[in-house]
Amino acid sequence: MFITRGTPKAPPTSERRRQSTTRMSAPTVELPSGQQMPVLGLGTSQAKPTQVTEAVKVAIDAGYRHIDCAMKYGNEAEIGAGLKAKFDEGVVKREDMFITSKLWNTFHHPDDVEEAVKMSLRSLGLDYLDLYLIHWPMAYRRGESLLPEDGEGRMMWDDIHFTDTWKALESCVESGLLRNIGLSNFNSKQIQAVIDVAKVKPAVLQVECHPYLNQKQLLQFAKQKGLVFTAFAPLGSPGRTSVKPGDPSVMEDPKLKPIAEKYGKSVAQVLLRWGVQRGTIVIPKSVTPARIQQNIRVFDFALTSEDMAMIDGFEIPHRFIHLDWVSHVPEWPFHESF
Ligand SMILES: NC(=O)c1ccc[n+]([C@@H]2O[C@H](COP(=O)([O-])OP(=O)(O)OC[C@H]3O[C@@H](n4cnc5c(N)ncnc54)[C@H](OP(=O)(O)O)[C@@H]3O)[C@@H](O)[C@H]2O)c1
Repeated sequence: MFITRGTPKAPPTSERRRQSTTRMSAPTVELPSGQQMPVLGLGTSQAKPTQVTEAVKVAIDAGYRHIDCAMKYGNEAEIGAGLKAKFDEGVVKREDMFITSKLWNTFHHPDDVEEAVKMSLRSLGLDYLDLYLIHWPMAYRRGESLLPEDGEGRMMWDDIHFTDTWKALESCVESGLLRNIGLSNFNSKQIQAVIDVAKVKPAVLQVECHPYLNQKQLLQFAKQKGLVFTAFAPLGSPGRTSVKPGDPSVMEDPKLKPIAEKYGKSVAQVLLRWGVQRGTIVIPKSVTPARIQQNIRVFDFALTSEDMAMIDGFEIPHRFIHLDWVSHVPEWPFHESF
């Protein structure tokens, strides 16, 4: 599915050593709009506002041109500060960057969509977004709270179907606020329901994806329907707040260590390389400069088909990010197998 530009071939070892201190750029994939989307971006979920400005600056210096944001992460103003610093320094221009944000679940009412887009734009200091996703298919109750629970801690919801939300997003494409629109955490039936009403087809599907949940069927479905597939939590989200004792850990899988050693790479780099090599976009989150720099260095080696197949075989399946406490809300996506 990927029509990539600039996919580098693995350079000789001396070149690889030199590259470890220089900037690396990610190849891009063409969206149906004709726009190029880098196949690796910086994730920003749970990146503390006090850390994320610096993380964005380090990432841009390291060669990242794609940042994955969301209103719900509560750090778009600080991401915007990092972007502004690099625009002001002349390191990048706005048009060099690919910036994604997401519509939170309390803003699904068609009358709220444009304002939500503008809130993210104001925070980020931008006048358009390259990509805007419906963050989840469920519509939580409109209002002040981003997590509107009743007195018993149950999420409250509104009877708003995401196909009506989609039409409001299309209007934001027409008015120039958004360049591309897409879906996040939607299952195949929900994606099809959007395609069936869409004037502007969804360009991207963003879902959890790593070797313990390789999303083979959903990836195949997205390809057939012409959606570019973005893998979130590509490292298995080891820093998530919802981590429970006994949860499996992708990063600590003993089968990955010897593979990483064979290529002289880290486990994280093998996971990211596996993701891009199977045709998905990866958006690892880090606020640690050395990791940010390390994570984009995945275009100077290739996994053999045997190693790709072995990692494909690590599927459990295990989903780390499921919001199962809101499974009573209509359109919670994981009642379906894919
Ligand atoms: N659409 C959605 O519903 C949704 C849901 C979840 C995530 N996302 C997006 O996807 C992004 C990635 O997912 P995620 O943040 O859940 O998980 P992730 O990228 O799989 O893992 C991030 C964690 O791994 C650590 N890490 C990063 N690089 C590392 C390396 N080279 N070596 C060791 N540890 C490393 C980070 O620590 P440090 O930061 O401390 O370095 C952080 O704790 C998010 O940030 C967000 O942008 C979207």
